Order: sequence, then C-alpha cells, then structure tokens
Amino acid sequence: MSSSSVQSTHAIDVEWVRGQFPSLQQTVNGHQAIFVDGPAGTQVPQRVIDAITSYLLHDNANTGGVFATSERSDEMIAEARRAMADFLNSAPEEVVFGPNMTTLTLGISRAIGRELAAGYEIVLTVLDHDANYSPWKALEERGVVIRTVDIKEADCTLNMDDVRAKISSRTRLVAVAYAANSVGTVNNVHEVVRLAHSVGALAFIDAVHYAPHGPIDVRALDCDFLACSAYKFFGPHIGILYGKAKHLEHFRPYKVRPAHDNIPDRWETGTQNHECLAGVTAAIDYLADLGKHSAPDANSRRAALVAAYANIQHYERTLAEKFVVGAQAIPGLRLYGISEPARFDQRVPTFSIRIEGRSPEELARYLADRGIFTWNGNFYAINVTERLGLESSGGVVRIGLVHYNSSEEVDRLLAALREFASRA
Ligand SMILES: Cc1ncc(COP(=O)(O)O)c(C=O)c1O
Repeated sequence: MSSSSVQSTHAIDVEWVRGQFPSLQQTVNGHQAIFVDGPAGTQVPQRVIDAITSYLLHDNANTGGVFATSERSDEMIAEARRAMADFLNSAPEEVVFGPNMTTLTLGISRAIGRELAAGYEIVLTVLDHDANYSPWKALEERGVVIRTVDIKEADCTLNMDDVRAKISSRTRLVAVAYAANSVGTVNNVHEVVRLAHSVGALAFIDAVHYAPHGPIDVRALDCDFLACSAYKFFGPHIGILYGKAKHLEHFRPYKVRPAHDNIPDRWETGTQNHECLAGVTAAIDYLADLGKHSAPDANSRRAALVAAYANIQHYERTLAEKFVVGAQAIPGLRLYGISEPARFDQRVPTFSIRIEGRSPEELARYLADRGIFTWNGNFYAINVTERLGLESSGGVVRIGLVHYNSSEEVDRLLAALREFASRA
C-alpha cells in the first residue's frame, strides 16, 4: 500500500513503515526475512539507531556534572522521561527506567513486600509471563499467601469469576498482564484494577506485551504500577516502570546512600543505559510520526501517539483476520486463544499454534529455513503451557504480528504452514 492509496483515516502506510526499519531487508537462504518474532523483541526504526549512535558520539557522559556532555546527558534523560510520560499518560517523575521489566518488577516487589505481614494475600494469574509471577510468589518467604486466577481453557481468557473469587479483604496486591505474551488475550484490566481497589489492594499491570499493539493510559486505568519494555515497542533494550507518585514516595527502595532520594531517582539503581534512553525517545517519536500521517493536526505528542495506535489496531486486525481464516483451513493446525474475528478487540495478533503430530521445534526450524522467524517453547509463560498440558511436549509455536508486517508476509507464512502440515 503506498501513501497515495491511503484512504481510511485508520490506514497504515505499510511502505513508509517498512522503510523506517532497515533490518527488515535481511534475507535467509534467498528468502526475504519475515519477522514474526516481535513478542520477544521488535525491530527498530533507523532513527533509534541514529539516536543511540549520536548519543555515544556527542553526549556520552555520566549525569549531574557541570560540563557540556554531562549537561546534555541530563537533558536527554529528562526528554526520555517526558516521552515515556506521553506514552503512558503519566507525569514524568512517575517514570522509572531500568534494565528490563523483570529487574524493575523484582525491585518494586521487594519494596512492597517489606510492608506485607504473614497472612496477607497477593492475587496472580495463570495467564501471566513469569516476570509478573515469580517476583510476587517469592514473597511467600514472608508468609504472604499467593492466590492464582485460572483461565477458561476453551479460549484462553482470564476467568473473571475466579478473579472475583480470589480477591478478598486480605488481598494487598493484584498483578495482571494487560495482554498475554503466549496466546494474545487482552485482559479486562480496567475491571481488575477496579476489583483490586474495591478491597483497598494495589493493582500492578504488566503491559510489556500490550505496548506495541495498543495505547496505554495509566490515568484512565487508575493502576498503581505498570511495567513495560521499550524493546517490545520498537525501541532498545530497556525497561520502564510507572508508579503513582504517592507510591514511589511511600515505598522504600533498596538503594545506596549517595543516590538521590527524590522520585523517580531513588528507584533507579546505579547508572542507567544512557544510549538506550536516547533510543527510547526516538522510538516514541517514530510512533508519534506514524500517528501524524492520519492526524496531521495532532497538537501534542500524546495525541499523535493515540492516533498511531488507532491506526495500528485497525491494521493489525486486518492481518489477524487474514492469518486466522487461513490458519483454520489448515488440516491438523490447532490455534490457542480467541479465534472468532468478531472478538478480536479482546486479543492482540499474537498466535500460539501446534500442528498435529509434529513438535513446535520442528515447525519453528522449518519456518526458519524459509526465513520466517517464530518462537517455540513457553516464552516464560510457563503457567500457560503447563495449564494447557503442552509444556512436556515442547510448548507451542508463537507467531507475533506487528504493524510492520505486511499482508504478503501473512500469505507467505500461511503457505509455509500449509506445506509443513501437508508433510506431517
Ligand atoms: C508479557 C511479558 N512480561 C514480561 C516480560 C519480561 O520483560 P523483560 O525482558 O523486559 O524483563 C516479557 C518478555 O518477554 C513479556 O512478554
């Protein structure tokens, strides 16, 4: 689709988008590579690479100095925080940077755990990545009781009756994924936050898997904490934790004495990955530019980001429908999760599949030889593969579409799946 053929206000100019991502041009065994490995990390636009290079070339220094490169580094970090605040709809001082979501979650869970006495409860879910499970489960060593919400096996959605049953007056925190990195389900996080708050518990949202697919608005969610990772939304390898200012002030981090005690600095242990912070701003500005294609009058970065995600959601849905209709026609292919297109507002285009009689690894290798990059296994969503009885036989193959994937790529992917299945 070229820019001249963009008609709908929600259209994505795929040619422009793909032109932004130089790594998409790679070939494998003569095949143009198809990156459907996005749930484990997306590709980055050229401007992210340029921002990282430029930082290292011109501004490389530690923070808080009185000389030019240090002052520029301080300003660059402040801008990354403003960009992330626009991305999340938070205040800049509510944005904490760190190495990745897992490390940030381990840090905040330790600090929250300090205040939890034996007998208090934390509610977790089967649908979550282990980074939003094990850090909380570790608090069992303090006598905290973990209650784990089940899924509905038929469509791999969260069992909301079970959420209601597990939350009680003893609950102190509910941790839930915005979207499942295994089967793509988008959880009703607004309702989970409401239920948590109804008993005075904190709500922690893992938005890592949702962030490349939909807009995040921490104010509308009213969540207490939310974590995500820039490398899943077209940026570099860095993690982000949002916390309501009052919580970042109240809870006590494990920190070294000379480090500042103001927020958010008190939560940012040690020296940050400055070059990647420069890349975070560039990734967010890329998304804002994408939004301006359909909303040239967007008068703020936040407004442009909201427009970008409307386009992304609309476009991804067309890819998802094409993939699911094609996949369901393949004999022996089983798709886990929501499969009716009418319900695709409850999922992101991340699909876990198996082909009867063949291992996920065999399928992933077959696709890889044809330049199609997928993941096989459990992707650390081990509660899900265990719950579905798939863990001992190699888990699933995960196909994760994002807005830089094209309709032609979905055709090639389906053709390869058909060919593999016909040989099974
Ligand atoms: C849903 C989800 N949560 C958490 C994580 C962990 O993120 P990080 O690699 O930033 O620690 C991942 C990574 O795959 C994920 O998909």
